[in-house]
Amino acid sequence: MTDIQALVSQMTLAEKAALCTGASAWTTTPVERLGVPELLVSDGPHGLRRQADVHALGAESLPATCFPTASCLASSWDVDLLRTLGVALAEEAIALNVDVVLGPGVNMKRSPLGGRNFEYFSEDPFLAGEMAVGLIDGIQSKGVGTSLKHFAANNQEFQRFSISAEVDERVLREIYLPAFEAAVTRSQPWTVMCSYNKLNGTFASEHYTLLTEILKKEWGFKGFIVSDWGAVRNRVAALKGGLDLEMPGPQDRRVSAVVAAVRAGELDEAVLDESVRRILSVVFKAQETPKGGTFDVDAHHDLARRIAGEGMVLLKNDGLLPLKGQQHIAVIGRSAEAAHFQGGGSSHINPTRVDVPFKELQARAGDAELTYAEGYPADNSFKQALIDQAVVVAQAADVAVLYIALPSFKESEGYDRTDLDLTDQQIALIKAVSKVQPKTVVVLNNGAPVAMSAWIDDVSAVLEAWMMGQAGAGALSDVLFGRINPSGKLAETFPLKLADTPAIGNWPGGAGSVRYGEGLYIGYRYYDLKEMPVLFPFGYGLSYTTFAYNNARVSTATFKDVDGLTVSVDVTNTGAVFGKEVVQVYVHDRVAGLDRPHKELKGFAKVALEPGETKTVSIKLNTRAFAFYHPEYKQWITEAGEFEILIGASAADIRQTVTATLEATRELPCVLDVESTLREWLADPRGRAVFGPFYAQIGAQASAMFGAAQASEPGLGMDMMDMLNDMPMFSALLFMQPMLDRPAEDIVADMLKQAHSR
Ligand code: BGC
Repeated sequence: MTDIQALVSQMTLAEKAALCTGASAWTTTPVERLGVPELLVSDGPHGLRRQADVHALGAESLPATCFPTASCLASSWDVDLLRTLGVALAEEAIALNVDVVLGPGVNMKRSPLGGRNFEYFSEDPFLAGEMAVGLIDGIQSKGVGTSLKHFAANNQEFQRFSISAEVDERVLREIYLPAFEAAVTRSQPWTVMCSYNKLNGTFASEHYTLLTEILKKEWGFKGFIVSDWGAVRNRVAALKGGLDLEMPGPQDRRVSAVVAAVRAGELDEAVLDESVRRILSVVFKAQETPKGGTFDVDAHHDLARRIAGEGMVLLKNDGLLPLKGQQHIAVIGRSAEAAHFQGGGSSHINPTRVDVPFKELQARAGDAELTYAEGYPADNSFKQALIDQAVVVAQAADVAVLYIALPSFKESEGYDRTDLDLTDQQIALIKAVSKVQPKTVVVLNNGAPVAMSAWIDDVSAVLEAWMMGQAGAGALSDVLFGRINPSGKLAETFPLKLADTPAIGNWPGGAGSVRYGEGLYIGYRYYDLKEMPVLFPFGYGLSYTTFAYNNARVSTATFKDVDGLTVSVDVTNTGAVFGKEVVQVYVHDRVAGLDRPHKELKGFAKVALEPGETKTVSIKLNTRAFAFYHPEYKQWITEAGEFEILIGASAADIRQTVTATLEATRELPCVLDVESTLREWLADPRGRAVFGPFYAQIGAQASAMFGAAQASEPGLGMDMMDMLNDMPMFSALLFMQPMLDRPAEDIVADMLKQAHSR
């Protein structure tokens, strides 16, 4: 084991500063004199983008398996599968000499317009966190590092290098940070990548609260924080904030700025030493995994196919699927020939090979005749002739399968979408084909929700196949022909239209900032709040079989917050074919001290069932499942009371509800102050003890006083105590000063002192 501390003490100031900035686009700075090697990182997150030339940012990368992107991965709701994927990614990393994979990305899908949503898991922090844990555990189990990104609040591409995300503390804690928190506290990614944007006015790369206080101190992150590529504005300020490694390099001027700042006494050398220590720890940890060799290209291709099959979501099916017995299939859409399987930007992979949807369909279709029509062009032009040809082909067939891929000019890293629509040509194509061919299946390849109202009623079936990875075509055919029973469920809501979406009034911001005005209410939390219909809810997906939920129960009707509880339900496959069901557990707090979303996902399990088979699914809910972040206490708190535990097949399809009562055991700090209302005094146990007797007394006096006033002035009609209860104690007492024997200020000061000393 290398003695890191000893090494740090042997390094010169210049060497230490140099280590904290990359030597190339993808490597850290070695210190040959002391035997410190370089560390090589590569994108991430769903395949390796390993540049042969470490100084190249965007050259063609070495061949690697392109797995489905995060939208598809999360729709599998299968943590074990993500772990398996992680192992495969690590094997490729080892073969390609990569020490750290730059992923996964766990930012929330605040709006379906986010250009990078295809690279992110979900609109729900719990689901995103579980997915990240699976993937990180898988990769790191093989001795390869990860970089959890982009920390934090990188939820849009518009002005992503500079915009300030204005997010309330509670919203940050409950929505935008928990996926990071789960991944850090449970999986310890070797590195965390800060985002480009500012958070509440400060660049993430310089954000002391975010990087040092929350990530390093509160969550106990042990690795190093790396900047997103080009995210550092001021190198010295970033070090002070907690940013350990700046990428990409080389950046000689940054290095000299650090040296100068230490010499001038502006930067404490201990701060630099701490970053050096963190970087060296990871550099040497990576050394423990010998690199080189090859990876099993075929096995990984097969895995990519399996994963794609688990993540595809059957959105609509009037019974046409699975296809059976059709003799003549019209295959329409250029993505049937040129698969659309990944997104643009830093996650773009040079695949080892790519399966062709048309060929894969043919392989499953037996003797059936397949005829092809392009349907729409590669660019954004409108070509009626392509639609006319498609109509002819569709008309002559028994069934039409339309392969509709959202083109990259509509969806990519680097820019947000401006609408939820397919191209005009694609919409016209679907409408024209479905008019002549009632048996029409639409297969979608995209990374984020699209609007379908214009055409969905006209087609028989819709399969969301996502950016399905290089082997997705085979999985797609397997689903269409029933060799795979679809089991994916949406990890994000598909809204009916853009105007319905949560962030719509606050998107994408401007003049340097974007206000997260919808607060806690993103995704299904928002649609629950508004009781708003959606196209397809969070957690939704069809199967070729059906499932029944019975006998929901909790391990104990009353539980302590520290213990949590276990919820169980019996799930039966009531159909005729093998299938998998994603059982979802949401928690609803009946009464809360602060406004809370109607329900929140806190557990899930994917269960495989033969026809007629029943399995009991048990899910543990820990304290956090019932807690919320209280900005006054500056911590997650639980409140005693009744909770409903909703067990469902989607956010809109709750099958069973059980109730349990929580006993809060943790003592909270006393936060009463001069502005605390009577209600707050009574809610706090120390406040109640001190103030309770006095409250009874002033209550009687107030009633008498205001009762008299009310008799002569009936217009005042109101519940006096209700009004008083929401006044700060000081204000209430001021009104009653004539009846008090001491100044209101003194009484409040005394009570505060007593409450705080209890
Ligand atoms: C992206 C990161 C990526 C990095 C390196 C940045 O532009 O935001 O996700 O890891 O480039 O390619």
